[in-house]
Amino acid sequence: MTVRKHSGLSFKCTERGKSMKITDLIEKLAVSHSLSLDEYEFLIENRCDEAINAAAEKAVCIRKGIYGNAVYVRGLIEISNICKNDCKYCGIRKSNTDCDRYRLTRDEIIECAETGYSLGFRTFVLQGGEDGYFSDDLLCDIIGAIKSKYPDCAITLSVGERSYDSYKRLYDAGADRYLLRHETADREHYRLLHPDDMSYDNRMRCLNDLREIGYQVGCGFMVGSPYQTNRMIAKDLKFIEAFKPDMCGIGPFVPHKNTPFGDMAQGTAELTCYLLSIIRLIHPSVLLPATTALGTIHPQGRELGIRSGANVVMPNLSPVLVRKKYELYDNKICTGEESAQCRDCLETRMRSIGYEIVTDRGDIKRDAAYDAKTSLKGEVINKNGCL
Ligand code: 5AD
Ligand code: FES
Repeated sequence: MTVRKHSGLSFKCTERGKSMKITDLIEKLAVSHSLSLDEYEFLIENRCDEAINAAAEKAVCIRKGIYGNAVYVRGLIEISNICKNDCKYCGIRKSNTDCDRYRLTRDEIIECAETGYSLGFRTFVLQGGEDGYFSDDLLCDIIGAIKSKYPDCAITLSVGERSYDSYKRLYDAGADRYLLRHETADREHYRLLHPDDMSYDNRMRCLNDLREIGYQVGCGFMVGSPYQTNRMIAKDLKFIEAFKPDMCGIGPFVPHKNTPFGDMAQGTAELTCYLLSIIRLIHPSVLLPATTALGTIHPQGRELGIRSGANVVMPNLSPVLVRKKYELYDNKICTGEESAQCRDCLETRMRSIGYEIVTDRGDIKRDAAYDAKTSLKGEVINKNGCL
């Protein structure tokens, strides 16, 4: 199964010199986990089938050395689609008056976690728009209730930008991880994607606060978002290299009809998968989801993501009644299925490509020798025959 076949695109390595240089760069990245901005840009600009396959092969080999054929699952609970923000790409932005708004109650959220636990989930992701109703007190109460019932589970929050004190309170209440995509590491691009009252600096402040407090932190960006250039993606990769997130969420941009970007082109599965491979090479132990957005634009998107180096999937645990309402982009998949169906579907999909979903919190293997900036790195990777 190749992305190229499905996307109908072909990237031939016609210029021999270029294809040699690009495979050399992939080799260099696999050993040193670092390239210059220009080199990252070159990797993206000149990608061809040979490079895409070489990157995926190395990424899968390296990931297998750390995580075997295990795929971690996170149960996604979409707690609210009410949002005070107006991000230009997002279907639940506050200006979308066509959006049927909802928020789950404390008890509904806990029920989703109960269902999830019985289905084998050991991580729950509470995700929502920036909804003031979810005060620190309420979130702390929910986190405390889930944690005391299921102390063997991890809680991931994904509720946007908050103050240091708020993040600290939620952490002290038991939250383990926090997802906050940086969206773009280019200041001007950030401005083009967001309303004037949001800022790149505050986004970065949040990510640094979360890291300092002790969360396992996830950043990420959309592939093919409006105005994005290869240089900007190179900056994202450089940012990931420097920030070393524990998790990294990347998925294709998919337009939503009721947003200012409704007529813009969507991102491709091909580039998303290539970037998944590159991110695995930059940061071998990173937790990397094959996202729902990737599954939305390609029937085998999540399988392709795993085969490119991802190691996480996030089935939906939200009550079916609200699923369709959490529509960040058009045609989102998994909006009609019950939680158990979603989980089984992903289990079958993963098995079909030789992977196993595991009942595990799925923490990052932080002490992996790959992460140590020592000469051991190359040796360990070589032992697996990845280089
Ligand atoms: N297409 C793809 N991803 C989107 N997100 C928001 N809107 C879209 C869209 N139209 C992503 C953002 C956000 C995450 C929760 O979902 O990157 O951080
Ligand atoms: Fe949700 Fe397949 S993963 S229906």
